[in-house]
Amino acid sequence: MKEFKRYAVTAALPYTNGPVHIGHIAGAYLPADIYVRYLRNNGRDVAFICGSDEHGVPITIKAQNEQISPQEVVDKYHVIIAESFKDLGISFDIFSRTTNQTHHETASAFFRTLYDKNVFEERTTEQYFDEQAGKYLADRYITGTCPKCANDKAYGDQCEKCGSTLDPTDLINPVSAITGTKPVLRKTTNWYLPLDKWQEKLENYIEAHPEWKTNVLGQCRSWLKDGLQGRAMTRDMEWGVKVPIIGAEGKVLYVWFDAPIGYISATKELALQNSKFSDWEKYWKDEDTRLVHFIGKDNIVFHCIIFPAMLMAHGGYILADAVPANEFLNLEGDKISTSRNWAIWAHEYVKDFPNKQDVLRYVLTSIAPETKDSEFTWKDFQARNNNELASILGNFVNRVIVLTHKFFDGKVPDASGCSDLQETLTQYKANISSSIEHFRFREAQAELMNVARIGNKLLTEKEPWKTFKEHPKETGIVLYDCLQIIANFAILCEPFLPFTAQKLMKQLNLETTQWNWSDAGRQDLVPANHMLHPAEILFEKIEDSLIDYEIEKLHSSKAITPPASVPLKAEISYDAFEKMDIRSGIILEAKKVEKADKLLELKVDLGFEVRTVVSGIALHFKPEELIHKKVSVLANLAPRKIKGIESKGMILLAEDQEGKLIFVNNEEDISLGSIIK
Ligand code: MF3
Ligand code: ZN
Repeated sequence: MKEFKRYAVTAALPYTNGPVHIGHIAGAYLPADIYVRYLRNNGRDVAFICGSDEHGVPITIKAQNEQISPQEVVDKYHVIIAESFKDLGISFDIFSRTTNQTHHETASAFFRTLYDKNVFEERTTEQYFDEQAGKYLADRYITGTCPKCANDKAYGDQCEKCGSTLDPTDLINPVSAITGTKPVLRKTTNWYLPLDKWQEKLENYIEAHPEWKTNVLGQCRSWLKDGLQGRAMTRDMEWGVKVPIIGAEGKVLYVWFDAPIGYISATKELALQNSKFSDWEKYWKDEDTRLVHFIGKDNIVFHCIIFPAMLMAHGGYILADAVPANEFLNLEGDKISTSRNWAIWAHEYVKDFPNKQDVLRYVLTSIAPETKDSEFTWKDFQARNNNELASILGNFVNRVIVLTHKFFDGKVPDASGCSDLQETLTQYKANISSSIEHFRFREAQAELMNVARIGNKLLTEKEPWKTFKEHPKETGIVLYDCLQIIANFAILCEPFLPFTAQKLMKQLNLETTQWNWSDAGRQDLVPANHMLHPAEILFEKIEDSLIDYEIEKLHSSKAITPPASVPLKAEISYDAFEKMDIRSGIILEAKKVEKADKLLELKVDLGFEVRTVVSGIALHFKPEELIHKKVSVLANLAPRKIKGIESKGMILLAEDQEGKLIFVNNEEDISLGSIIK
């Protein structure tokens, strides 16, 4: 592996349209923090960069919903988010924001450079326009059905179900998110980044990294395989970085153009704040820098395709050498959702569990969604605290410190050189290091806990509390060894459990800056006769009542979207209604569509003919459940090819507030082919 001189580590800039939750923490910020702390402890030169992503439609939609200005939205959440990160020990060197001046200047200049190099294609296209609101509908201002997977809640820029990146005009049945009306098409001019021109370079870039995680490579390759297309880098909107071109009034940079540049602007800001980073450019331009982006899986294409293309087009910048993207974290059997308030918010956790930052860090790393989606439950959180942190680690440390006070007046017994732990400890350290360097934090932390386990085992086997009277020397040796294990643990746990590391150092009566990673493995960290501090409990057991309270709180604050809050579609005439031909049918066969998680291919008997209908319901029903189900079918819908299958008609289903699908027509006595009107 290449030896790098320095590291620029970024964590996805969070959208400032709400606080951050445990899914964000587990997805990007905690793994990034573990990696950075590890590098720092190894004496590496590293800049850890983050900030608020304050432009884009998510912000303006939030502002509209809360009836405040976008600036007020970002001012509010920027502070809450920054505090949460600080409270959880996420140790950014800078947490900047994209509304600040440095960023506006940097993003603007970046765009201007590409413009002057003739990189962009100017295209006049028809974009959706909401006549009632008098606005163009970019990105998330428009929703509709995904052409790839039939998810009917796809956004204008992306389908969150299948991960496809979309253009608003790709959507089937587009609807304005502002008024709920059907938008009209209007001409407008925007600047496109012709990604197709970088197709080959990007292929070479991606294929030069066979070591990347399979989820990352998979998404990149599927993009490249489909063939890259030009994407608009400007939007008809007011909120954002103004397009620095005469004649582009009323247009701003696309948020996914400006936000990743935010990493660069934040590094510039950092240089102004901290002289250690005054030469900021080397973090972005020197080939000896390792650039690493920590992100969630919904950000892969932007970090592995679009941003690298921007950097290549600009010239002079290095590209990311690693993009460790995580999958998603679910919560108590359901997807985490901001809009449904199904989440554990970082700032609330910190309030409810003061001084338990490391418990959350520990649990989130234990269940990190590194290779597939994973799940947080409060019961599991409690069990890991009580059975692992408190029983294995806390109990071990406590017994050793208490016994040392009891038998040796709090002084490290003089037993150096009596036994040999060096090799074992060095091996653990090597394993942990290697796992961290490969971004396998779950595995690394499991190995860390094994260090506490060897200490526990030593205590249980030797029972030093029993031997002191007859064999004080033996007791001394065991406690000496255990104290060295604790000291080693203090070093090795710092990236994962920084608060615990400090507490351990305090009990050992040492300076927190005393050692770095290279000291781990030594068996003489706390010297003979060194005086310890009194024992303190590291981890309290968490009682059922606290956990029950959290579970109750989660369920009771879950937002129920009253049906009325979904705006009604625009009025239609009776004629329009009469054009629909809805028939009663019965499903004869159902099978999965290959390479499409969400799709089922159905054979539906309408009485007068048997139809093939492709429906996006595979996540809701197993094929075998559907056989002989009665269904209502919109029978005169124009046929459409989905994944190469001609679909004729559409199954009608009701969706309840929880997103559950229910068949509209399952009455026993409706006969096949009945006309519904
Ligand atoms: N705000 C985006 C999100 O939360 C991430 C932006 S990452 C950056 O999904 F690269 F654009 F900064
Ligand atoms: Zn989709």
